Amino acid sequence: MARMSPSALRSAFVARYGRPAARAARAPGRVNLIGEHTDYNDGFVLPIAIEQSLWAVAAPRHDDALRVYSDALRDLQTWTLADGPHADAPRWTRYVHGVATLLRRRMPSLDGADLLITGDLPLGGGLSSSAALEGCTALVLCGLAGCELPLEELAAICRSAEHEFAGVPCGLMDQYASLLSRQGCALLLDCRSRRFEHVPCRLDQHALLVVDSGVRHELASGEYAARRRECGEALKLLRRACPRAAALRDVAPADVARCAADESLRRDAGAMRLLARARHVVTENERTLAAAAALRAEDWPELGRLMSASHASLRDDYQVSCAQLDALVERLERCPGVLGARMTGGGFGGCVVALVEVPHAQGLVAQLNCGGDPAAPRPVLRVVPAGGAERCAL
Ligand code: GLA
Repeated sequence: MARMSPSALRSAFVARYGRPAARAARAPGRVNLIGEHTDYNDGFVLPIAIEQSLWAVAAPRHDDALRVYSDALRDLQTWTLADGPHADAPRWTRYVHGVATLLRRRMPSLDGADLLITGDLPLGGGLSSSAALEGCTALVLCGLAGCELPLEELAAICRSAEHEFAGVPCGLMDQYASLLSRQGCALLLDCRSRRFEHVPCRLDQHALLVVDSGVRHELASGEYAARRRECGEALKLLRRACPRAAALRDVAPADVARCAADESLRRDAGAMRLLARARHVVTENERTLAAAAALRAEDWPELGRLMSASHASLRDDYQVSCAQLDALVERLERCPGVLGARMTGGGFGGCVVALVEVPHAQGLVAQLNCGGDPAAPRPVLRVVPAGGAERCAL
């Protein structure tokens, strides 16, 4: 991939602001291998960071102003830390503003800055460009303020920025994946304890392909928040069987099955829908732990099988897939060498990730990219597990 060299970052900054940059940081996008819609239920996730990243390049200001230029959007926005962006400023400014505001509460010495955001991570395509934007902004601003915070704390700050300033009630997965991943490994994160393990993911004989469905999702649009609410309601129902459960993490598939067999609930379509949501979460937690074990054992067929089972559960029980994602997964699963495929990320559009045997990968990429095929969607990315966010030399 086209990494941004220090000299390219330096000259892009000078060209934009007419003065030298002082700091730069990179934060990657992510692809979740498995563990979807489990993070906000205190569960397990298994994402990788990818090489495609966003870079933030910055120089300090001493007047409380943030001037931020997005290279990809060719958009310059200016606001003060005290007042924030104008109410009808574009959405992306909220992530930068949120991170800057929360960081300033933590380190009052933080002043204004000129920022340039650049990179090769597709925006809004389900690869967590928002977490990457938050992550590189947070790191570069800490650099300007001369303050080192633990990456776990930065991840929590970035997640709060998303909640409080962008209105997306997301879990912790994307920010952890972007900030704490290690090259060559997937990140198994326990979203309750926040303990994590870097699980080696040796892709010598296998490839991970990411295919964009072309359908854009908007997590703030309501369905995501609706699923979160349904999980809370499902938990209340399940407390009949598991009175001490603090989150769906504490419920076993057998508990859901027992509740679903209850005669008084079977006639209640709403209750059955809630139990289906819970069934997804509790079985997905099991699949995620099994997938981490399969990765450790390099049991690729098992990992592929779990990925496909995850998709079926997201489609049928959690209902966050869509026709285009389902069609892509079905199509991929019929191709030779594909061990498994699933939607990745919040759903309702975005990307599919497929695990493919290397000898078949190139042919498959060519076939999916083939413009003549009306079912062929978008360019395909071949991704590898990359390292998490870092400060960059200038
Ligand atoms: C989005 C959110 C994550 C997670 C996924 C679904 O990416 O940002 O926190 O909930 O959806 O697994």
